[in-house]
Amino acid sequence: MTYDPARGSWLLTTPRTRYVIREDPDGSPRHVAWGTHEAVEASPRPALTNSFDGDGTADELGIETGARFGPAGLQIRFADGTRGAQWGRAGHEIDGGHLVIALHDRRYPLRAELHYRVRPDTDVIERWTVLINDGGEPVTVGRADSAAWTLPPLADYRMSHLVGTWNQEFQLRRTPVPVAETVFTSRRGLTSHHANPWLAVDDGTAEEDRGAVWSAALAWSGSWRIALHRDPTDRVTFTGGLGHEGLSWTLGPGQSLQTPVFAGVHTVDGFGGATRAWHDYLRRYVIPTPAEDRPVVYNSWEATGFAVDEAGQLRLAEAAAQLGVELFVLDDGWFGGRRDDTAGLGDWQPYQGAFPQGLGPLVEKVHQLGMRFGLWVEPEMVNADSDLYRAHPDWVLHTPSRDATELRQQLMLDHGRPEVERWAHQWLDRLVRDNGIDFLKWDANRAVTDAGRPGHPDPDRLWIDHTRAVYRIMDRLRTDHPHLRIEACAGGGGRADAGVLARTDQIWTSDNTDPVDRLGIQHGFSQYFPAQVMAAWITDSPNIATGRSTPLRFRFHVSMAGALGIGGKLTEWSKEELTEAADLVATYKRIRSVVQHGVLHRPTTEGHTTAVHYASADGDEHVVIAWRPQTGAGLPNPVVRLTALDGDAEYYDVDRDVRISGATARAGLALELPEGDYASTVLHLRRG
Ligand code: GLA
Repeated sequence: MTYDPARGSWLLTTPRTRYVIREDPDGSPRHVAWGTHEAVEASPRPALTNSFDGDGTADELGIETGARFGPAGLQIRFADGTRGAQWGRAGHEIDGGHLVIALHDRRYPLRAELHYRVRPDTDVIERWTVLINDGGEPVTVGRADSAAWTLPPLADYRMSHLVGTWNQEFQLRRTPVPVAETVFTSRRGLTSHHANPWLAVDDGTAEEDRGAVWSAALAWSGSWRIALHRDPTDRVTFTGGLGHEGLSWTLGPGQSLQTPVFAGVHTVDGFGGATRAWHDYLRRYVIPTPAEDRPVVYNSWEATGFAVDEAGQLRLAEAAAQLGVELFVLDDGWFGGRRDDTAGLGDWQPYQGAFPQGLGPLVEKVHQLGMRFGLWVEPEMVNADSDLYRAHPDWVLHTPSRDATELRQQLMLDHGRPEVERWAHQWLDRLVRDNGIDFLKWDANRAVTDAGRPGHPDPDRLWIDHTRAVYRIMDRLRTDHPHLRIEACAGGGGRADAGVLARTDQIWTSDNTDPVDRLGIQHGFSQYFPAQVMAAWITDSPNIATGRSTPLRFRFHVSMAGALGIGGKLTEWSKEELTEAADLVATYKRIRSVVQHGVLHRPTTEGHTTAVHYASADGDEHVVIAWRPQTGAGLPNPVVRLTALDGDAEYYDVDRDVRISGATARAGLALELPEGDYASTVLHLRRG
């Protein structure tokens, strides 16, 4: 990281990329270049010359003053009605890999800091912004983005992004970038199932392992917005940060606002290269326990729904332990008057009728069975039919003059109120401490609607405060209970982002456990998130979401590509099924460290088959999992090309006791798939 005073420019260097910023005569930090070392040497963007199209450069944080007409990342209004910032000369500080460009408005006592962090072992650049009001009057903030990212001139532009719904999260879409402003957003107070704050842009020709890709992801679990602008001169910039359009925050005298990290990465190794860079970064710098193997989970939700009691759970726990399960999770229904989803949320004492002596006896037995014990909680929510709501109707996000919208018969507590945050932290802390809880599945089953915080001078703060309070509670719980692990969940994958991942160990990917649907969901999820955090249960067949029947082995093989879990009615499984399941769990444990900590490749395949390939960091051990959900007459033989293997090396197939040359596997390996639909296989190779 260096500053060149002659040019007024900053150079950020990562192992394979460079990023250049310069200070414009008007005081604004302007983007110059982002690419490989060679590309950045070669190509400054040509300046445009006429008075309508700008000068060909883009702001590092779009402001509303001057000849700027794209989406502004900073929207502010001073007390006298003046909009936008005009920066004076910038100062800066460089501390190792951390650059702070310090800006101050020429006429108003407002400062901004643009933060950049680079590290010696990743090409991911972290960026965020801090706004500071040094004046005596409030400043209204309509938008405070973390960063604007600008691409070099390309022949064309294509975007990859994730869309979805409940039960169909993380669907990868690749589409041309229109000459327009494209907005990716969540207005739901949660990251959302519908869009994920991850984006990749290429010139339309990138492939899995080839081609230049620029990608970015926002570490925030509340509402967010990323605006991608391709203007008619073909400049492409995207600006992103917390909050959706229409909100505004007051920055009072002496107050500051720090935004979440909006990280970016550039690679010339295609979409797979971007994936590998993100996985590596998340494991090194975001996920709290990257070195740990994720345990094989049993979760009771699909088996018992709300009908949970001590004896029933114990029967499941005994069966799960036999299969080799390591963590038993009691899901919804264990507390208050929660016999279905209409009542009880908020009353976090064990339901007497089902757990007459509390959770203690079940936890103890689960521990005796050699498993850890996990519990489902939904600390941000309340049913109107609950003692908590009857005692504190004012604790929910609401607008008194508006009818409240209940979703899944529940309302949302305003964790931005200190008394609510205190309450949630206290009962969670006590619950974990008093019951020997090892794991929490932290759920959030509705979005924010009709949001208000009556009496608060700055009501839109709730969109920031709530998420920050959730983060603080999780952080405190982890600090005070170092053994505690947390799973992020919001009706499946509705809260999946680097913000929540900085304080959780895994993500419940989707409520949809159908293995065929899961292949698509997992493909999208894996673009950004590593297998280690991708919770994947195998459940009963036919599947409750789709009615599709699939073999146990296929279901297992799909889930083995992530953090394996089981969620079926084990008490109704046949002896043969239980034996086969125990075998498959044992297989998973044998390949788990490669799957969970390995490097992901997506090999090319033929014959309606898809595959993932995990390679250990040293390249000595490899796991390939291949699936063919549907067969067909006349299809080519299922072949997988393992181009990530070393062509000069020999590999030993652990299960089949044969040797395979790297060159053969690279050229194309015939897969031994069973006949018919829902065929799958696992290949476990060791070098040498
Ligand atoms: C959400 C979760 C499910 C389950 C239910 C319980 O939908 O995603 O896994 O925990 O809530 O109500």
